[in-house]
Amino acid sequence: MYASFRSIGAYVPENVLTNADLEKMVDTSDEWIVQRTGIHERRIASDEETTSDMAVKAAKLAIERSGISKEEIDLIVCATISPDYFNMPSTAAIIGDKLDIRNVAAFDISAACTGFIYVLNIAKAFIESGMKKNVLIIGAEKMSAITDFTDRTTCILFGDGAGAAIISATDKKEDAIIDVHMSADGGYADFLMTPNGGTGNPHMSEVGGEAGCFIKMRGNETFKLAVRTLTSDVEKILKKNNITSEDIKFFVPHQANYRIIHAVGKALDMNNDKVVLTVGKYGNTSGASIPMAINDIYESGRLKHGDIMLLDAFGGGLTWGSALVPFAGK
Ligand code: COA
Repeated sequence: MYASFRSIGAYVPENVLTNADLEKMVDTSDEWIVQRTGIHERRIASDEETTSDMAVKAAKLAIERSGISKEEIDLIVCATISPDYFNMPSTAAIIGDKLDIRNVAAFDISAACTGFIYVLNIAKAFIESGMKKNVLIIGAEKMSAITDFTDRTTCILFGDGAGAAIISATDKKEDAIIDVHMSADGGYADFLMTPNGGTGNPHMSEVGGEAGCFIKMRGNETFKLAVRTLTSDVEKILKKNNITSEDIKFFVPHQANYRIIHAVGKALDMNNDKVVLTVGKYGNTSGASIPMAINDIYESGRLKHGDIMLLDAFGGGLTWGSALVPFAGK
């Protein structure tokens, strides 16, 4: 059996936070934000809206578009670093409850912005081993809940949203997910982290109390490492599978920063019209950004059955990964 990418869905909250809004909150400017990141606005969930609420809306669309019934789903895996509850229960279990999918394994994984590539590979492995047939994978984030809106170096970057996909078993080789790479190097853990609240610093003394539960980032170093690592990882996956940039219909990178995307796209000799960009309107939605971007090309009618997508991502951990995925939906 092969694993195929059968359907996609996404959801974004209604509330828009523009660069002009941020100008009133911190010492920044629309010009600086657009020039350094390409971000114009991002969506922010309401106080009542949780990560699982957004995930459920994305998942319902993915299930409906897959043509399978929810009773056929036999595994739920959610990538998130902004779960409904930090220790337990898992957001995946809550999503299962809200979708009324019961007695099915459900768990979260923590790989930050690379999360969707990790859950994609997990689904692929479960299906290829014959253990599962239809896996609901989700990337969902309420980044606004872990962002310090007094810190101009991070609060301009992040936004909220969710994306979901159904990965199904198939015997059609042409629909099979071609390859997924995932990797990590914890030696760079302090490039991107939320220092307080875990067992590493349970008493919240390290970075002044609650503020230490928000994202801290060494932005400039992360930027340089991201460009280097992503370029070499993508070159490797293309070479290993004997695929060239010309075979790729859509390059769907993690939407962190326009300049990172542009630098990697250029190094890969990727035509601009193949590069999917949503960072301008949604900012960095971490594990949700890739499925949200895939949903964008799906809903605009550009993504067709058989189109090969090249995915890549980089994030806290540090983690990174890439994937070659033909779209197997309608
Ligand atoms: N508005 C105005 N000025 C700002 C600012 C803001 N929002 N944020 C930082 N600055 C200032 C800094 O204080 C610094 O000022 P100084 O020179 O007086 O010290 C100056 O701008 C340059 O800061 P620097 O951090 O070197 O800028 P940069 O070009 O690296 O851009 C990022 C900052 C965050 C946009 C960029 O580093 C980045 O995108 N990094 C990757 C982040 C990322 O993608 N993380 C997630 C990975 S998944």
